[in-house]
Amino acid sequence: MSYSKIVGVGHCVPDQVITNDYLSSLMDTNDAWIVERTGIHERRWVDPTKDTVANLAARASLKALERAGIGVKEVDFIVFATITPDYYFPGSGVLLQRELGLEGIGALDIRNACSGFIYALSVADQFIKSGMYKTILVVGAEIQSTALDVTTRGRNTAVIFGDGAGAVVLRPSEKPGILSTHLHSDGRFAEELYVRDPGSSRPREERQPEQILDTTTYKVVMNGSQVFKHAVVRFTEVINEALVANQVTKDQISLLIPHQANLRISQFIQEKMGLQNEQVFNNIMHYGNTTAASIPIALSEAFEQGRVRENDLLCLAAFGSGFTWASALIRW
Ligand code: COA
Repeated sequence: MSYSKIVGVGHCVPDQVITNDYLSSLMDTNDAWIVERTGIHERRWVDPTKDTVANLAARASLKALERAGIGVKEVDFIVFATITPDYYFPGSGVLLQRELGLEGIGALDIRNACSGFIYALSVADQFIKSGMYKTILVVGAEIQSTALDVTTRGRNTAVIFGDGAGAVVLRPSEKPGILSTHLHSDGRFAEELYVRDPGSSRPREERQPEQILDTTTYKVVMNGSQVFKHAVVRFTEVINEALVANQVTKDQISLLIPHQANLRISQFIQEKMGLQNEQVFNNIMHYGNTTAASIPIALSEAFEQGRVRENDLLCLAAFGSGFTWASALIRW
């Protein structure tokens, strides 16, 4: 059997560090509240006059290609996960393809929010295994800061989300590789974490520019406690699903890289599954929740810190808007 394998990983975060104290100058919040409820100390925000989702993604992709020792021209497909594309359409996949000068190759966009990177990895894995493509860039990138409501009204989400990008290069391999991926959704909870507009289900009269007086429907709406409650159940479920599918135990996991939703969620999963500190990677303290970018950023940092070594067993897991949840078990 042939596999797909991650042969390079890279990330790129904007330079601008936004501390909790800075947010306290914009809205009624404080460092102690944010750290206690989310574990976040700071996050990165782009300079919107310079950065785009596609160029953050390009920088992460070039780093991943460099680490893989693969020339950019060898990339034959792009799978791009984001919920904050540069334009309403087209998706940012084609903009990344343009940034990298890869005229003519296919570019697919994935909109599965926090689970988006694992969905993207799963799609790319199938393309590699089927022999359709040989070198796929799988990217997660977000610019969320420009859409946040940074007044007290938006404080339950404004303090959580951040910007950044991560990418991996996927290639065929005789040795594993991606062992399995597991994807799930439950749309009954779609409105528990969502952005309403510009939604096509609005009547035409409401969508005319002169009618759009209420821009709050363009902001993130989140029922934090519902998200938390479902996340802790689904995360553990989908991690266990990956373990059972591959007949391995939790003790064999070298590193669990959970989507960086909230430090308390990660700690809850760690405790529930009985994992050691060295088995779980967290960097939400520095970047906040970067949605589809969080797993590849964390993977890239774990790699840089020497916490991902050859033959290690990695588990990626995510939960987010949709609700969607997913996992991937990987032999590095
Ligand atoms: N600073 C200070 N106070 C805040 C605040 C902020 N940034 N955001 C909300 N509050 C206030 C609320 O207004 C509320 O005040 P009240 O009691 O006077 O009404 C109080 O804090 C408690 O709010 P609540 O929403 O019940 O807090 P919580 O303990 O549930 O924590 C979250 C809120 C968002 C941190 C928490 O629900 C959470 O982590 N949920 C999961 C979110 C997540 O992971 N999202 C990403 C999914 S991919």
